[in-house]
Amino acid sequence: MTTITLNHVVEQIKQEVIEWRRHLHRNPELSFEEQKTAQFIYDTLGSFGNLELSRPTKTSVMARLIGSKPGKVLAIRADIDALPIQEENTFEFASQNPGVMHACGHDGHTAMLLGTAKVLSGMKDRINGEVRFFFQHAEELFPGGAEEMVQAGVMDGVDLVIGAHLWSPLELGKVGVVSGPMMAAPDTFWITVNGKGGHAALPHQTIDSIAVAAQVVTNLQHIVSRNTDPLDNLVVSVTQFVAGTTHNVIPGSVEICGTVRSFDAKLRETVPELMERIVKGITDAHGASYEFNYQLGYRPVINQEDVTRVIEETVLEVFGAEALDKMKPNMGGEDFSAYQQKAPGTFFYVGAGNPKKGITYPHHHSRFTVDEDALEIGVKMFVNATFKLLD
Ligand code: NI
Repeated sequence: MTTITLNHVVEQIKQEVIEWRRHLHRNPELSFEEQKTAQFIYDTLGSFGNLELSRPTKTSVMARLIGSKPGKVLAIRADIDALPIQEENTFEFASQNPGVMHACGHDGHTAMLLGTAKVLSGMKDRINGEVRFFFQHAEELFPGGAEEMVQAGVMDGVDLVIGAHLWSPLELGKVGVVSGPMMAAPDTFWITVNGKGGHAALPHQTIDSIAVAAQVVTNLQHIVSRNTDPLDNLVVSVTQFVAGTTHNVIPGSVEICGTVRSFDAKLRETVPELMERIVKGITDAHGASYEFNYQLGYRPVINQEDVTRVIEETVLEVFGAEALDKMKPNMGGEDFSAYQQKAPGTFFYVGAGNPKKGITYPHHHSRFTVDEDALEIGVKMFVNATFKLLD
């Protein structure tokens, strides 16, 4: 199939893809609760023909398109969940579910993958091998839907996997590609510093948990600046510090939590130990005690070189050299990485921001939206990359 033919077919369903996105945007559902969303996806896929449908988990959907000739198995993934945010957009298809909003573009991801399934299901005779469409629940909430889908066996027999994220910081018309490490492993920690509460005028009778915990926070910043290789990427951020009730009481304890972001597996392993050494040392020094909990999050997204090259070639062929944005990695997290443990794969960004239309709000903002022209670009990427990867 030539790129021109494929693009022509995609352009014919452009409006339908936009309508699907608007329907999903109007009816967002939280992670692990995507019942109506999954049913809508299932019913829409059922109208295309040539697809074998299944429900790997309660709120996810998988479609298999088995081509006429044998070949490789390519999986394409979209995430389908929304966020606990009250939408402040006022357009006609704004959320009708109070306190819940598609504020990360997963409505667009779902619509793009439905569009891709529609186009490819009509070309069954031209497909070598198999295309699997993953409509994955719960990307936004750890432990995430990807791991559950992998456990359910969706990756069995899969040779290659791709996925994309609409990206409002990236201008419409651009496709962002990163080879190698792309997104970090997002881990979480909780620390309790236990002192001894008392009267603020009699500090010598207390163990001031605030004074001790403040030193813990300061010293945690020594991990990145003094303990690990400056050429390795690492973030340690304290994001919550909860203590006290009023001006004349020294509280007995402080709750601290935050996030650690890394790419390298070895470095990632060393961080909890470095952190606990500091927490223990500081609390010991002042007669306080502590509790320390550390939870490993998603694995880092590491894009495989060969698949990434095909994605880059697809951008160049379909949209031209000015569309390709070779982006830097970032310290965000994505559970797409769960699929990459099973097969080589690449995740890429589809530019969806447009300052001229006021589409500039960041992801997870109550006024977030995407330029809907990006949906067509996403479908063209998936459809063209499918033939490149399977032929
Ligand atoms: Ni997202």
